[in-house]
Amino acid sequence: MAIHKLPLLLLLSSIILFHNRPVLGDTDEEDTLFTDINSYRTSQNLTTLNKNKNAECLADEIADQFKNKPCTNDTGSATVPGTEPQFAEYPQILAKCHLNVSDTRDGSIMPACVPRLDSNLALTNFTKTQYSLKLNDSKFTGMGIGKEDDWIVVVLTTNTPEGSYSTATKDDDDDSNGLTISIGLVNYLIIFMFSFCFFLY
Ligand SMILES: *[C@@H]1O[C@H](CO)[C@@H](O)[C@H](O)[C@H]1NC(C)=O
Ligand SMILES: *[C@@H]1O[C@H](CO)[C@@H](O)[C@H](O)[C@H]1NC(C)=O
Ligand SMILES: *[C@@H]1O[C@H](CO)[C@@H](O)[C@H](O)[C@H]1NC(C)=O
Ligand SMILES: *[C@@H]1O[C@H](CO)[C@@H](O)[C@H](O)[C@H]1NC(C)=O
Ligand SMILES: *[C@@H]1O[C@H](CO)[C@@H](O)[C@H](O)[C@H]1NC(C)=O
Repeated sequence: MAIHKLPLLLLLSSIILFHNRPVLGDTDEEDTLFTDINSYRTSQNLTTLNKNKNAECLADEIADQFKNKPCTNDTGSATVPGTEPQFAEYPQILAKCHLNVSDTRDGSIMPACVPRLDSNLALTNFTKTQYSLKLNDSKFTGMGIGKEDDWIVVVLTTNTPEGSYSTATKDDDDDSNGLTISIGLVNYLIIFMFSFCFFLY
């Protein structure tokens, strides 16, 4: 009796699971820029950059600090070197990402403001501006990218202790994993409740 309801149940479950896809696929512009920057590195005969989790965390936090700042011709990739904004919360941001000033000193933080994060403009804001000096540099080995609204931030890391971005105790998960897990639990709960209702009938 209950057996023939199984396909319907599976259908409902997959609808619920698919419904969460946009949350998980939220990183498109970051992934695109990551790939594009590595293609640029390859075209410059340089090594590609590996994903660095702590740098990615820092990039997200910095993007969050920038999100309400308007795009102007003297912000982001057009910033005059030496006039970069300073954040009072910087030490706390570093700590949140399991970093400190001594293992980030040689790294590079590059915020860019690109309305709607158009992927071509995002790439040229890094490869055709002052930032290209960093992207051309063979000392960098890792990268993390974060975005918030119109801001996209690239953080470069080195493989020296002063730029490794690896103070981390790697065992605890970042926030996004926590979110994924809780969404997962909600799914299971909903599926469970559906199954329960169906089997009652
Ligand atoms: C990369 O290497 C190739 C082959 O060695 C060379 O022809 C090319 O000019 C190099 N490109 C750059 C940007 O150095
Ligand atoms: C930036 O914009 C301001 C005001 O719109 C303008 O006066 C200034 O010349 C611009 N600077 C550059 C470098 O384009
Ligand atoms: C960087 O992005 C801004 C905003 O989209 C755009 O106006 C500018 O042309 C871009 N600069 C480069 C060099 O791509
Ligand atoms: C980085 O390399 C590219 C290609 O070789 C060059 O066009 C660009 O000017 C370089 N950037 C800097 C800041 O030297
Ligand atoms: C940063 O972390 C490293 C490695 O854990 C530690 O040796 C160093 O003392 C820390 N530096 C500061 C300024 O906290």
